[in-house]
Amino acid sequence: MKNIVLFASGNGSNAEEIIRYFKNNNEGVVVAIFSNKADAKVLERAKNHNIPSVVFSKTQLNDGFVLEQLHQFQPDLIVLAGFLLKFPESILKVYPKVINIHPALLPKYGGKGMYGMNVHQAVLENKEKETGITIHYVNEHYDEGEFIFQNSVNIEDCNTAEEIAHKIHELEHQYFPEVIAGILTRNS
Ligand code: GRF
Repeated sequence: MKNIVLFASGNGSNAEEIIRYFKNNNEGVVVAIFSNKADAKVLERAKNHNIPSVVFSKTQLNDGFVLEQLHQFQPDLIVLAGFLLKFPESILKVYPKVINIHPALLPKYGGKGMYGMNVHQAVLENKEKETGITIHYVNEHYDEGEFIFQNSVNIEDCNTAEEIAHKIHELEHQYFPEVIAGILTRNS
């Protein structure tokens, strides 16, 4: 059984899907949730599932505090599920297996500033016919690590960024846990 540590900054609907999925899958278990927002809904979700959480500041992410905290959970895989800060190289050096989910078809709509609704707004403004999700390894550059999985969805019937976001969340919930399980299996 592999230890999964989740990092999330906000709502945490993906985090919750992942927690649920691994309650019924022996490949892995979610051992902790790390968040940089003390009032993030993801922390409430963690509590409801009896999963320990660690709250930290942007400074603590980079000064060794988070790395220190991670050691006690012995992560085999770190999953960024709606984590909005840049993941530090100092942690990647110690725990290189870190993946992220991006709510667009990278390399389009990636990079600094391209997160959350900004992505869906840009997709809408460019009148894209489809968008999708990209699950990728994390390296020292925003959204540039090796791709693991992509899936797309038609959005010709969407008139608002919120409608696009809704479709993207459905894709994420459908595929993200399975893709994580695949990674754990391949690396065992
Ligand atoms: C997701 O769309 C994810 O792709 C992006 O942030 C969003 C997080 O949603 N990185 P939630 O907090 O899991 O509901």
